[in-house]
Amino acid sequence: MVVSQTGGSEIRHERTGLVFRPGLEGVPATQSSICDIDGLQGRLSYRGYSLDDLAVHSSFLETTYLLIWGELPTPQQFRDFEHEVQMHRRVSFRVRDMMKCFPANGHPMDALQSSAASLGLFYSRRAIDDPQYIYDAVVRLIAKIPTMVAAFQLIRKGQDPIQPRDDLAYSANFLYMLTEQEPDPLASRIFDRCLILHAEHSLNASTFSARVTASTLTDPYAVVASAVGTLAGPLHGGANQAVLEMLEAIKADGGDTKKYMAKAKDKSDAFRLMGFGHRVYKNFDPRAKIIKIAADEVLKDLGVEDPILDIAKALEKEALTDSYFVDRKLYPNVDFYSGIIYRAMGIPVEMFTVMFALGRLPGWIGQWKEMRFRNEPIGRPRQIYTGSTQRSFKSVSK
Ligand code: CMC
Repeated sequence: MVVSQTGGSEIRHERTGLVFRPGLEGVPATQSSICDIDGLQGRLSYRGYSLDDLAVHSSFLETTYLLIWGELPTPQQFRDFEHEVQMHRRVSFRVRDMMKCFPANGHPMDALQSSAASLGLFYSRRAIDDPQYIYDAVVRLIAKIPTMVAAFQLIRKGQDPIQPRDDLAYSANFLYMLTEQEPDPLASRIFDRCLILHAEHSLNASTFSARVTASTLTDPYAVVASAVGTLAGPLHGGANQAVLEMLEAIKADGGDTKKYMAKAKDKSDAFRLMGFGHRVYKNFDPRAKIIKIAADEVLKDLGVEDPILDIAKALEKEALTDSYFVDRKLYPNVDFYSGIIYRAMGIPVEMFTVMFALGRLPGWIGQWKEMRFRNEPIGRPRQIYTGSTQRSFKSVSK
């Protein structure tokens, strides 16, 4: 007997005494002073500032500065940072030409992962302990990634990317480059707020991946590319796309929410109510509360009547009084309403997870920078071996 169950889902390896917890549930894997989640109370703060305050009073670029440098910027620091980001928004024609070779039917998250990694080729000086290199890398990532995302969206439609506009702030410029429409001021503010809500969330799967990658002392572009790849899955960032597809399927099926509630509870069916549940929150996800209000605001402002918002609200109402969901503490998470907002803004469904990635950039970069500062050792956990032992080799020729 190599392993034994120690209670719960823990498994103990008898030879080494190592204890394995599937999914590393509840296992602290680092220390960080960036983001604090109180999963039982449903509270979230960045660098000690409550998300509720930041979402209402701050901008995404200001929150980015806070997350990466640890303090809110002075007016001068903010002007300088905003100016630097604006100056670096354009991407080289070589990057655009490279992206034109991407398959048009490829997923935008894969295009983002490849283009983020390519920045390491274009800016290949790997001086990760030089403060100027760090500053430049932060600015390049925050400035260029939205331009690359918008470029791929136009390229895959067979069009040429459009240039950033210097008269537009960060989020308004991104919406303009993506949709080619003059951005609505309230929609731009709400989009900026969505980015703030996604900006950081402690040691989630993509940040864990970013930290492990960073621990090898590779460059920040590889760190971001690794995190993007991890975010892409439907149990993580891909959930916002999955939510929209689920709501559409319910609508096409006559809007019968009860049928889908029953499906989600049926253990013989792999279906889950997408946008519900969270590994850490065992109370309402504070981001979901803010984003639900934002969805109402933006749909009203844009004059969009979207029946799937009603389906979403009906599902939430039913889940909040259903013993299956109540007993398991399954509440709507940040992804439940974000897709409805993005769709109202004219963002295609396959781009939704990319919006999550744009928001999460400062979180990944802040975690990378924190690791550089703390000089953390390489991430190298242990495994419990469960394979065969002492087998005698037989040559393939025999
Ligand atoms: N619908 C139906 N049942 C669910 C759901 C759901 N969305 N989520 C969890 N459960 C059930 C699950 O079947 C299990 O039941 P039982 O105890 O009877 O076996 C119980 O709740 C615990 O589930 P778990 O999978 O052990 O919980 P977890 O903490 O490992 O998973 C989760 C968290 C987010 C992966 C999961 O809740 C889920 O798959 N949700 C749907 C996908 C989703 O919305 N993901 C976005 C997460 S928020 C954004 C982000 O941070 O990436």
